[in-house]
Amino acid sequence: MLRPFIFVRLEKNLAMESLEDLRSRVLASIAAAETLAVLDQARVAALGRKGDITERLKTLGQLDPDARRTAGAAINSVRDEIQAALEAASLHLANAELDRRLAEERIDVTLPVAWPAAGRIHPISQTVDEIVAIFGTLGFRVAEGPHIEDDFHNFTALNIPPDHPARQEHDTFYLPDDAEGVRKVLRTHTSPVQIRTMINEKPPIRIICPGRTFRFDSDATHSPMFHQVEGLVIDRGVNMGHLKGCLVEFFRAFFDVDDLPVRFRPSYFPFTEPSAEVDIGCARVNGELKIGNYGSWLEILGCGMVHPKVLANCGLDPAEYQGFAFGMGIERIAMLKYGIPDLRTMYESDVRWLEHYGFAALDRPNLVTGLTGGAV
Ligand code: DAH
Repeated sequence: MLRPFIFVRLEKNLAMESLEDLRSRVLASIAAAETLAVLDQARVAALGRKGDITERLKTLGQLDPDARRTAGAAINSVRDEIQAALEAASLHLANAELDRRLAEERIDVTLPVAWPAAGRIHPISQTVDEIVAIFGTLGFRVAEGPHIEDDFHNFTALNIPPDHPARQEHDTFYLPDDAEGVRKVLRTHTSPVQIRTMINEKPPIRIICPGRTFRFDSDATHSPMFHQVEGLVIDRGVNMGHLKGCLVEFFRAFFDVDDLPVRFRPSYFPFTEPSAEVDIGCARVNGELKIGNYGSWLEILGCGMVHPKVLANCGLDPAEYQGFAFGMGIERIAMLKYGIPDLRTMYESDVRWLEHYGFAALDRPNLVTGLTGGAV
């Protein structure tokens, strides 16, 4: 007997799997889905355009009305059941996923705060900032000059002519001759900035010049690169009393000791007359260097009244203008203030050292924390 092709296929399909088996298989696949993605595959396999339930529904058209009604109601009820199971499973998996994330991504508020890695301010930078802040309140401004200097600014204008013995003491780094055949040097001190300022500006002059300086010298207390700060005041009627008052004021503010003993000792520099060296009172107490009235002294700077020849070399009339100048090593006062025992460690770039001796950026002197940066 010939039957329509479609009927054969329907019969075959139905013969393959009963609605009840289909129902159990789909519900089992829903129950077995462990993720939302797998659950969605089960949904598509049952209810998608080519899904098992959809295919079943398509066959209804071939049945006579009575059979269609019964078969339709049966398939629809299975479809509703599958739909409900899908929704329940989806909700369950979404909750489970949330629970898992809540458990895994839990924040332990009792853990110590993990600060983001932040750089530290090197004690030299900190010290320069403090020096600038203090001299700023005394009416000074900052001047700068080049690291590569010529003979005139580094020596000659400072009254150190070519055959002067002071040149030997400077352990100068000489550069190869430049295009014009001039042999430049790495500046051996910050004093050439005095010369540049006096040549370029009209008095009154009140400057400090912090910066790098270079000498061919390296041991426990010397580094080939180090820092100085130069000071210069030029005006009419400037005298040694101004120099002393200014430096005593500076040291008391810098070391934060009101009765800090400061001693001026006669000395010699080619560029000042008279010249002095300044010592501050300190002593080694239990191996630690302490600043204060202990009866012993430590030299920390050179100074004096600007030599008339230096004024004249810069085009100033010594009969009209006088001035004082000073120069000090920044490493030394930084080591003293912050208890750093070894100069060489300053430039080893050891982050543990910097972590210990360095300053947080907020410790920089500012209007809120003042000169001591809020340090106790
Ligand atoms: N330039 C000197 C040095 O490097 C320090 C110095 C001494 C600078 C006396 C001055 C000064 O301005 O007046 O050793």
